[in-house]
Amino acid sequence: MPAAPLEITNLSAGYGPTRVIEDISIIVPAGTRLAVLGRNGVGKTSLFATLAGQTRLHSGEIRLDGRVISRSPSAERARHGLGYVPQTRDIFPTLTVEENLFVGLKARPKSAVTEAYEMFPRLRERRSNLGGQLSGGEQQMLSTARAILGKPSVLLLDEPLEGLAPVICEELMAAFAALARSGEMTILLVEQRIQSALDFAERVVVLERGRIAWQGTPSELSGDQEAINRLLGVGGLH
Ligand SMILES: Nc1ncnc2c1ncn2[C@@H]1O[C@H](COP(=O)(O)OP(=O)(O)OP(=O)(O)O)[C@@H](O)[C@H]1O
Ligand SMILES: [Mg+2]
Repeated sequence: MPAAPLEITNLSAGYGPTRVIEDISIIVPAGTRLAVLGRNGVGKTSLFATLAGQTRLHSGEIRLDGRVISRSPSAERARHGLGYVPQTRDIFPTLTVEENLFVGLKARPKSAVTEAYEMFPRLRERRSNLGGQLSGGEQQMLSTARAILGKPSVLLLDEPLEGLAPVICEELMAAFAALARSGEMTILLVEQRIQSALDFAERVVVLERGRIAWQGTPSELSGDQEAINRLLGVGGLH
């Protein structure tokens, strides 16, 4: 599938009666790279989980490629092109790397796993290892590769760099940049490594208590020290 636009309109959602996403509206044109930033607990994961159909929707609408998906079950959203790599890296620990990849192929032929190995050659070396035996970085590669094999038109990446060594972070960010350049995916990235996110993205939204508190371009955010201090913490860009 080619990259698709994602339109989020007045979205409010949460867990049971609790609302943690409050009236969020974002238009993400096809092929855009959007960074979603904010301190711990502001609702970044909940926003992605809402897009993927894993929270309770209170109000609002989500359109993927013009189609309303906000009331669709998660599996149907995935079929319509939504790829989700959760913060928890949900690989199958007792399946091999290659078996994990087969799960991501859906109806595609098994030979398509080579696309994952081209993107992450390390996974080819580890193809017979169990998912649970992989390092954190390899698990992230596997989790990402599995989502990409499903050829999503919109890809959600939730803190893919969390806990990883700098050299692995660079490898992953290079892979995401290559995907974005292919023009086949709209990519939404949540990251605590602010500078990596700003280097990658074309647009940025910053959340605070479940709402959009700031939006603009990476260079506008880099130049807005007040917003950085207030919304992202005293550490500034790193
Ligand atoms: N399954 C859940 N049930 C109830 N409340 C939840 C659940 N998951 C998250 N929350 C609450 O929703 C709010 C937003 O959490 P969320 O995980 O979306 O934040 P986040 O921005 O992704 O944080 P982090 O940077 O730590 O990953 C928090 O108050 C959190 O406690
Ligand atoms: Mg999170």
